[in-house]
Amino acid sequence: MILEEIMQAVRECGQILLGAEPEKAVQVKDGQYNNLVTLYDKKVQNELQKQLLNIVPGAHFVGEEEDVHESIAQGTAFIVDPIDGTTNFIRGLGMNVISVAMTQDGAVEMGIVYNPYTDEMFYARRGKGAFRNGKCIHVSERPLHQGLTLFGSALYYEGLSDRTFRILRLCFDHSMDIRRFGSAAYDLCLIATGRAELFFELRLQPWDYAAGMLIVQEAGGTVTTMEGGEISPSSPSSVLAYGSNVDVSFLSGE
Ligand code: IPD
Ligand code: CA
Repeated sequence: MILEEIMQAVRECGQILLGAEPEKAVQVKDGQYNNLVTLYDKKVQNELQKQLLNIVPGAHFVGEEEDVHESIAQGTAFIVDPIDGTTNFIRGLGMNVISVAMTQDGAVEMGIVYNPYTDEMFYARRGKGAFRNGKCIHVSERPLHQGLTLFGSALYYEGLSDRTFRILRLCFDHSMDIRRFGSAAYDLCLIATGRAELFFELRLQPWDYAAGMLIVQEAGGTVTTMEGGEISPSSPSSVLAYGSNVDVSFLSGE
């Protein structure tokens, strides 16, 4: 089965990360000192590309570390983030994941997110529910005032900082507390498992959110743009994800 084969490939790549010495393999991306990459990002991406295209020959492949990204509009495509949370990886925080989404004619059909440090495999197929290590998962039923808000700082887009922290302040006022973990794909899985109630980030790339978005939706949660619109996994987007009893009306007109 394709899903099992993808999970096997992802698990093997997790072993590469567990045995890595990331601090020796750091490179600065695009001259931006807050945008780091390691030789492992490329190594895992290449390995996944090889294995995924063996599983589905002829599929399109979109990987974060490529210079040019193929269109996913038609046919089958894989959208891959070999290390989501690269800064966490470099700093040894044990909070980075491998994210793989499979799309069909532009829509996400499967999502896999793997945290090798906790050996947690999150996955979903459209219409078939979401799972963590084989057990069905559900978003939280807590209202936000009893819940946690997670956020991403959209750190590569300086112009978004003021709005990010304005929204964060609102969320802080409406939640029990806030957290910033440093991996959007993992944040989405935390929403899907009901460990936190709301996540937002003002700009993410498809490889950050495509797999996690389906996992949240299949776990009974909602994922939209900040304005409440539908997200297309073919372009960068803001992302707002939340559990079944979260009222996000306090965000309208922020
Ligand atoms: C980043 C992480 C981070 C988020 C950034 C992403 P990367 O991905 O998901 O949590 O705030 O927007 O770009 O660069 O570690 O793959
Ligand atoms: Ca990422």
